This record gives sequence, structure tokens and C-alpha cells, in this order.
Amino acid sequence: MQARVPAGLDRKEAEIYQRLDPERLPKHIAIIMDGNGRWARKRHLPRVAGHRAGVTSVRYVVECASRIGIPSLTLYAFSEENWKRRPKAEVDFLMKLLSRYLKQEVPTLHKNNVRLQYIGRLRELPVFVQEKMEWAREETSRNTGMVLTLALNYSARSELVDAFQSMLKAAANNGGIEHLTIDEETVSRHLYTSHLPDPDLVIRTSGEMRLSNFLLWQLAYAEIYVTPTLWPEFRGVHLLEGIADYQKRDRRYGGLNDSQSARALRS
Ligand code: FPP
Repeated sequence: MQARVPAGLDRKEAEIYQRLDPERLPKHIAIIMDGNGRWARKRHLPRVAGHRAGVTSVRYVVECASRIGIPSLTLYAFSEENWKRRPKAEVDFLMKLLSRYLKQEVPTLHKNNVRLQYIGRLRELPVFVQEKMEWAREETSRNTGMVLTLALNYSARSELVDAFQSMLKAAANNGGIEHLTIDEETVSRHLYTSHLPDPDLVIRTSGEMRLSNFLLWQLAYAEIYVTPTLWPEFRGVHLLEGIADYQKRDRRYGGLNDSQSARALRS
């Protein structure tokens, strides 16, 4: 039986969607958006033109993901390292671009019932960006559909350091360090992503085979999908192709699949 195609998908998206099992869509997709600079270089344009084109991809992907009912989408927009290693003019441009995106995009987020969240060391961002972020978060806070989380000034190692600090502080406020018990559940609760399930699928564009300090704890059992497509060219069809590939995987979480278990029982 063919899956009913959600409203709003274009013909090519609908074609791929019909090959998917709607019961086994990932609950959380994380994306490392890469290749803006290379996209611009190929066209003899400045790098910032690639970032501007990347915003259009963000819009398409957010709409497609929410239309097909993905509960959570997390986008790696700026790493902590981006601040330190890129020219100030590029970082300034990215900040203005983000601020403009937040202002312009709220109506589209509402239309798609999307709720906005952020992860990262947000207090280190320029105040004008923090204000716009808070405004957009508050504006979308009553939406009940997909949670769109933007990773901004984000580093997975810093997140773990902050989680350990937060656990110590919580213990100090709760009878002292001798009451501190640490297990996986405690660590997860103190991460920036405490509002999210762990990603089932991580997508990286532009062909690089790296995690680049992104969600290192949370991606422990995620399926990895790398596409050569550069981020400014990434659209809903590419997202759906990634999901189709994910659905072919055999997720075992360190155990055996059903046929292996049956064989193991027989032997
Ligand atoms: C990586 O490409 C991309 C970034 C560092 C920035 C990502 C930003 C956007 C997609 C636009 C803004 C986002 C939002 C949510 C408004 P790169 O510059 O590292 O590309 P390269 O590896 O080809 O040089």
C-alpha cells in the first residue's frame, strides 16, 4: 500500500516520499550544513553569497521536514570554532544574516507550526542577535509541531564541560557533592539538548566525513548519511533521499538483528 503524500510536497518529493515507510521516519534529524564557501567559489562569488544561498536551503528543508511530520530537526549553523577561525567580516555577516533570517522567517515557522529552540554558548553571541533569538523563540513558543533547534556558537566538547559544571552546581544546591550520582540519564538531562531525543539520523552535506564537534554524546547510535551535495543546493528531495537511505539501515544498537538472533538461538 502506498503512503498518503502529505500536502505541500512537490512532484519529485512526493515520488521519494511514496517509497518511504511513514511508520519508520526518524524522530530527530541533525544536519551539518557544509559547502557554502565551495558553492560560492564555483560561481566566482564571495563566500558570503554561499551563506546567503544557504538560508534558502534552510527554508526548504524546514518546510519539507515539518510537512512530512519529523518531530525534531537540529541544524548546525555556527560552531564555536567558526568564530575563532574565520575573518571578522564573515562572522559579522553571518550574525546579520541570522538576525535577518529570524525576523523574516517567523511567519513561515508559524505557517508550518514550528517551534524554535537554540543550543550553544548563546550568551557569547552579540546582544542584537540574542534579542532577536529570544523574540523568535517566544513568538513560536506556542506552536505544537516540529521543534527546530539551531546550534549557534556550539561545540560538543564545551557542551559536555558545561554539563559537568551544571551537575556539580545542582549537587552543591542539593545537599552537597557526596549526593552526586552520575549516570547516562543524568548527563543527558544536563546537556543543552535536554528538550530533545537523541538524533536517529545525522546528515552532512558537501562530502566531508567528519562530525566536526557536533552532538558527540547524542550521536552515539545515529545513522550517518553523507551527501556530496553542497548545502546551498540541498532541498527537500535530498532530505527525503537521506531518509530513504536511513530506512535501508539495520539499526542494532550493539545487539543482533532478528535473523541473527534466531540463528544464534539455533546454534
Ligand atoms: C559551512 O559552510 C556553513 C557555515 C559555517 C554557516 C552555515 C550558515 C548558513 C547555512 C546560513 C545561516 C543559517 C541560518 C540558520 C540562518 P562553509 O563556509 O564552511 O563552506 P566550505 O566548507 O565550502 O568553505
